[in-house]
Amino acid sequence: MYQENYYNTKIIDCHSHFLPKMDDGSKSIDESIEMLLETKRQGINEICSTSHFYPNNESPESFKERREKAIASLKEAIKELNIEVPNIFIGAEAYFYVGIGSSKRIKECMIEGTHYLLLEMPFMEWSKVEYEEVILLMENFGITPIIAHINRYINYGNNLKYIKKLQKEGCLLQLNSEYFIDKKTERKAVKFVKKGLVDLIGSDMHNTTSRPQTLGKTIRIIMNKCGQSYIDKLEKNARKVFNEATRIL
Ligand SMILES: [Fe+2]
Repeated sequence: MYQENYYNTKIIDCHSHFLPKMDDGSKSIDESIEMLLETKRQGINEICSTSHFYPNNESPESFKERREKAIASLKEAIKELNIEVPNIFIGAEAYFYVGIGSSKRIKECMIEGTHYLLLEMPFMEWSKVEYEEVILLMENFGITPIIAHINRYINYGNNLKYIKKLQKEGCLLQLNSEYFIDKKTERKAVKFVKKGLVDLIGSDMHNTTSRPQTLGKTIRIIMNKCGQSYIDKLEKNARKVFNEATRIL
């Protein structure tokens, strides 16, 4: 079988849905394990689980309880199979709502051991309201928001302007692998990297089929089209975010 030649990277996959039955990601322990093994095969040695968290539908306590169970079952399977998987960190992908900037409980959903929160913004044109809520997260709680998959919002109105403003204020911007892999958007993705609009990259993988791990390929694209210095920068940013993060495996 043709073996892809992947670059062994220090970049951490900061956005993924591999925990079994937590959200619309992995549907079973077997699938979770295959996702992790594929991540390792692609030269990615560290990954953060960011299951969807919808603060309007569930309390952080309930979310964390479910997450603990999913982690425990996955850990057990990995131990039993005696396989090598990437190092695992734990977080959530918290969905934005008006009021989030004043809700202390959102701190529960930061990447464990850090002050970073992966934040999924609404898929619509933003206004000052959305912008100011994100700023409040920083001012009120010292959270550093990571704006998840910025590629998903940029086609709405002036969102790109707000995205740039948020980055200036200290938020980190995360771009999804899919934006590099899709031939229609690859050039745009590369341009974003070169313009300094990408602080972190993530796979946002959900399964082994329709939304699989593609970060290895993305890293090669960035290496070829942007050069080593951009890879170095992405590695450095990832290291900084996860420097104090709690490893669960
Ligand atoms: Fe996601």
